[in-house]
Amino acid sequence: MQLLKNLASVSLLLLSSGNLVKSNAIGISPLKEHESSSSLSEPHLRHRQLQKWCPDYPSNNNIVFNITKETIENTKILFDLLLLVTCSESGPIQDLTPEQKEPYETLVCWSDWNDQTLVAKSKTSTPACFALFQGTNSLNPLDYLQNANIFSARVKDSDCLVRSGYKNGYFTKYYEEFITEVDNCVASCTGQCPLFLGGYSQGGSIAVVASIDLRHYNPTIITFGAPRVAVDSHKFPCHDANPQNHYRYMNQLEDEYDCVANMIPDFNGKHMGTSLILDDTNWPIRTGGINDNLSRTPRGFGPHDRDLYRSRVDEIFVRKCYPLPVVSVADD
Ligand SMILES: *[C@@H]1O[C@H](CO)[C@@H](O)[C@H](O)[C@H]1NC(C)=O
Ligand SMILES: *[C@@H]1O[C@H](CO)[C@@H](O)[C@H](O)[C@H]1NC(C)=O
Repeated sequence: MQLLKNLASVSLLLLSSGNLVKSNAIGISPLKEHESSSSLSEPHLRHRQLQKWCPDYPSNNNIVFNITKETIENTKILFDLLLLVTCSESGPIQDLTPEQKEPYETLVCWSDWNDQTLVAKSKTSTPACFALFQGTNSLNPLDYLQNANIFSARVKDSDCLVRSGYKNGYFTKYYEEFITEVDNCVASCTGQCPLFLGGYSQGGSIAVVASIDLRHYNPTIITFGAPRVAVDSHKFPCHDANPQNHYRYMNQLEDEYDCVANMIPDFNGKHMGTSLILDDTNWPIRTGGINDNLSRTPRGFGPHDRDLYRSRVDEIFVRKCYPLPVVSVADD
């Protein structure tokens, strides 16, 4: 009975994980001395203000690591692609305008009844390959079941147990075509193109499964508001996932944290990757470190909003202050 209740709350939680916060609800952080207080209440105006100057770096021994300009630029490309992989909103990629396709050398997409995956190659001076996985499709109730699936399964040839639903979201009927596209893309650069895997919410969890299967390419994983995907197990410690290369973003809005990234019950799940907490200043970014499995409270639906992630990634990108310092949450 308790289990049923838990299941019901998980599905409810994911059912309501759509766009709950409108952009005007984005909280404004306390102003720094050298900011003018007048026009900063509009997020798009804050971009312009912020462009003029970069905040001071925290004291050097507080910085755990820096996120490079190249990683931020690729994070922005990845987020733009993430918006295309949600079939319910953008439609098939064949319908994109030439302007929408312009930034990509290749752009391929597959769908089955409840999953969608996209592979693209960027046209930047150092091109990269991107694979994006769709988050929960808000028009497809069956897709919620992928999140609520409490069973676990091993990712083939690996030491990782993961939630069955996310594994199914990766090993789709178009899996072979997907692999061929990724192989071709990575091979299309001299040496190898770097590979970025990512997604929002459920899509982020599927990207982690992908990173285990594609570990021979040493991919970088960038996820936003993703729930726990690996299952804690002595027999399957999951060394085949690389948490060092996983930027696991979660939003904080006022005092609340993304409820999906900090989901309870977690059915023995564990978070991998380096947690990165986005807030309204995004300077410095805070981290709980590698394999930060904490369930932060209080939790809220507001911080799970995809548009909030989008505006914060955009803000970091538009501000162009590189590299981006990351400090430990312990330094708060
Ligand atoms: C991070 O970057 C800043 C600015 O370039 C630099 O002063 C600092 O030493 C770097 N810290 C680390 C840990 O890389
Ligand atoms: C991760 O966190 C969850 C929720 O707090 C907990 O149930 C689980 O045991 C933790 N797993 C590990 C490996 O620490």
